[in-house]
Amino acid sequence: MKKTYYFANWKMYQSFAGIDAFLMEYATDNVLAADADVYVGIAASYEHIYYLSQKLENSSLYLGAQDCSQFLHGAYTGQVSLQSLMQMQLSFCIVGHSEVRQLLGQSYETIALKFKVLLAANISPILCIGETLVQKEDGVTLQILYDQLESVLEFLQSYQGTTKIFIAYEPVYAIGTGVIPETHELQEIFYFLQKLVKELPVAKNIMFLYGGSVHTQTIGLLKNLEGISGFLIGKASIDFQALKKIVECE
Ligand code: PGA
Repeated sequence: MKKTYYFANWKMYQSFAGIDAFLMEYATDNVLAADADVYVGIAASYEHIYYLSQKLENSSLYLGAQDCSQFLHGAYTGQVSLQSLMQMQLSFCIVGHSEVRQLLGQSYETIALKFKVLLAANISPILCIGETLVQKEDGVTLQILYDQLESVLEFLQSYQGTTKIFIAYEPVYAIGTGVIPETHELQEIFYFLQKLVKELPVAKNIMFLYGGSVHTQTIGLLKNLEGISGFLIGKASIDFQALKKIVECE
């Protein structure tokens, strides 16, 4: 069976007490770890990454960040370097999440630089792309997705590494709203994305994720999608039991 990847994006929802409660449930009911075909990663905020790295030693949960600086070291106030994150068992890092794009105004080029820094360090990037509702209604979804991917695709033409690369399609209007796109819309989009990467030398290491209102009520439908390798889960992933249900749903 193909491995399925579940990435919990804890955003700024979690607390130290919440992490303790989550890990307590995980320790007594570690179904998330039992299955070799399941990968579960937690994208935590920076201060929680350190805390989790102490607690998750010898655990089968993987640890990731929600962003990182495109620079390795230096006079960059307020930024967090990948070098320091890597001292905390970092396995992956989200880049280009729509909340980060909007709040911090990160450009396509900045996001592409982050993506490259991650691959240079053999840390899996999860590159988020997605259109807004207005863009969807204007019929420019595929163009927007292409624009968001363009510099990364150019770079990947000559990239020869073996690090796994994740591209998460997260329509902005689906994030935190309970609304998910129609199945046929998603299939068309993933088909388009697959075609874009098909000829790249690292095509076999590129995996697609869906994100945006993945929760216990929507996962059944989403698991029927073809051509994706997993999910990026926001709000629902804070709750251990909800995450477990999402992972176990058949
Ligand atoms: P959501 O968030 O599951 O809360 O909609 C997903 C995300 O933003 O990654």
